[in-house]
Amino acid sequence: MKKLIALLLAVVMVLGLVACGSEASAPAAEGSAAAEGSAAAEGSAAAPAAEGGQTVGIAMPTKSLERWNRDGEYLKNEFEAAGYAVELKYSDNDTDQQNNDIANMIADGVDILIVAAIDGESLTNTLNEAKEKGIPVISYDRLIMNTDAISYYVSFDNYTVGVLQGQFVIDTLGLDVNDTSKTYNIEFTAGDPADNNAGYFFNGAFDTLKPYIDAGILNIPSGKTTFEQVATPSWSTDTALENMQNTLASYYSDGTILDIALCSNDSTALGVAQAIQSDYNGGNTPIITGQDGDIANLANVVDGIQTMTVYKNVSDEAGVTLVLAQAILKGETPDAGLLSSLKAEAAYDTESYDNGTGIIPSYLLVPWTVTKDNLQDLVDTGLYQWDAANKYLETVG
Ligand code: BGC
Repeated sequence: MKKLIALLLAVVMVLGLVACGSEASAPAAEGSAAAEGSAAAEGSAAAPAAEGGQTVGIAMPTKSLERWNRDGEYLKNEFEAAGYAVELKYSDNDTDQQNNDIANMIADGVDILIVAAIDGESLTNTLNEAKEKGIPVISYDRLIMNTDAISYYVSFDNYTVGVLQGQFVIDTLGLDVNDTSKTYNIEFTAGDPADNNAGYFFNGAFDTLKPYIDAGILNIPSGKTTFEQVATPSWSTDTALENMQNTLASYYSDGTILDIALCSNDSTALGVAQAIQSDYNGGNTPIITGQDGDIANLANVVDGIQTMTVYKNVSDEAGVTLVLAQAILKGETPDAGLLSSLKAEAAYDTESYDNGTGIIPSYLLVPWTVTKDNLQDLVDTGLYQWDAANKYLETVG
């Protein structure tokens, strides 16, 4: 318990530092709803247009999920260093607020919008307004649906994130589809149904494991085999915790062994790990997957509580977004040719992401698997460092 409290304090401190670094004007406490709701705290006090320059409007979903703090900070830094003025808003995971925030940025006359949607289905009207005003929109990380106002999509190969999680399970257990002598129990935890990415993550993992499920090597005692049955609204840690507690109470209280908790990301993996620690009596340590490399989860990886996370370098994602935005603002129509000007490895994809109005051309970065054994690779990115005791990782800056 002491350790947990120390860890939580460390996380709060790290997030606090991120917040201070990114938004000098943000006096309010990190992650508090009040802070997210307040325009001043979100740096939305109309950013002065750079002298003769252009202004970039950045809409992030929430500060309560760790990664978006990093995305916001990296994007802001990249664009400011390139001479743009930046309006950065977080919308407290509230769809109405995000619509308002974006409408305000349009009214402020931003030259381009970069939007990570809370609910991919809910921004149609607001973004159509952007289109009418000739403001290009980059859909950031999550695909925004049902509007042709979107010029481009920048993300990671989302399906591959799930494939990496599934493949990790196969490799760790040494599964062979023709060898049914050993069987394992697995439960899935997926993400927010309003987030277009969530289905890709789940499908990537499920499709990869399906041959083993069909062969009876992997069993799902809860019978929860569909995305809808295991989705976690808002990617909430608390909901993931409760859902796993319910699953454990209903299907594992008789001593049934849980071998794998396949979680789509780190915020859900955190809740699932807590449920397993408090409510699971099987005696073994189940494999727990995740995604993002959140600080608390990296600590769990060190401690052997979480087994892996899929890492996505969101500093690179911000860098790609800058290069793309610069090209758009110059009046160019970027295509595969842009790849050679990117600092990070990415693919140009014109097939995978249809938002209901047609295919949105996409720049997709490459995710990779992190375990206890390659944590130093994170340090080598320059974005993480070992803490004073050399045991856990913390973000740099
Ligand atoms: C992102 C993930 C993240 C999740 C919750 C998804 O859209 O791609 O990296 O874990 O949102 O924040």
